[in-house]
Amino acid sequence: MDSTIHIVDHPLVQHKLSLMREKTQPTASFRQLMREVSLLLAYEVTRDLPLETTEIHTPLELMKAPVLSGKKLCFVSILRAGNGLLDGMLDLLPSARVGHVGIYRDPDTLNAIEYYYKVPQDIDDRLVIVVDPMLATAHSGIAAVDRLKQGGAKHMKFVCLLAAPEGISAFSTAHPDVPLYTAAVDRQLNEHGYILPGLGDAGDRLYGTR
Ligand code: PRP
Ligand code: URA
Repeated sequence: MDSTIHIVDHPLVQHKLSLMREKTQPTASFRQLMREVSLLLAYEVTRDLPLETTEIHTPLELMKAPVLSGKKLCFVSILRAGNGLLDGMLDLLPSARVGHVGIYRDPDTLNAIEYYYKVPQDIDDRLVIVVDPMLATAHSGIAAVDRLKQGGAKHMKFVCLLAAPEGISAFSTAHPDVPLYTAAVDRQLNEHGYILPGLGDAGDRLYGTR
């Protein structure tokens, strides 16, 4: 069984993603667009959250109203570019819990190297939404989900902005139980593991480090 892939093809997401791909987009606009698009991705990934009813008093009468049920969900950002998606998602779900997995891709081997891990203790009881804008080889995404499963996470979703076909195939083979959400599936990886046509290095573009 492969993971379920959700392509978020909402016109606003597609428009904002195209603006982000443009190489002349200044850092501040790139960051702002990432924040806006992540809010829209959060809307899609939370579409099936369970609801329960509770009694509330409107100014006119008592009613049974739907509210989210269960424990608050947990976002896990794969540092550092994951934080670009995290910020917009927290605008929409300000009470969510947050974990961080620090992983970088070795530029020569493209292997995922972990350097930080901190997540809420009761992660096993929460829906965990892992965020990272880029799924290229998927080494980072697979390693993060491996680590979270070791840490007890049972119910996860993975959200990115752009995915390569190679990454989707690797991720869904490694973690068929984790649904994937992406705004686009691009053509292929280049010889350095960058997504084509892509948007370049997401972390560098978010933080102006190159
Ligand atoms: C980028 C990106 C992903 C990873 C994707 O991170 O944010 O984590 O590459 O590539 P993969 O699917 O081939 O593993 P990077 O290693 O550049 O680290 P950074 O976010 O700290 O810049
Ligand atoms: N990481 C990025 O930031 N961009 C890519 O195209 C691939 C990996």
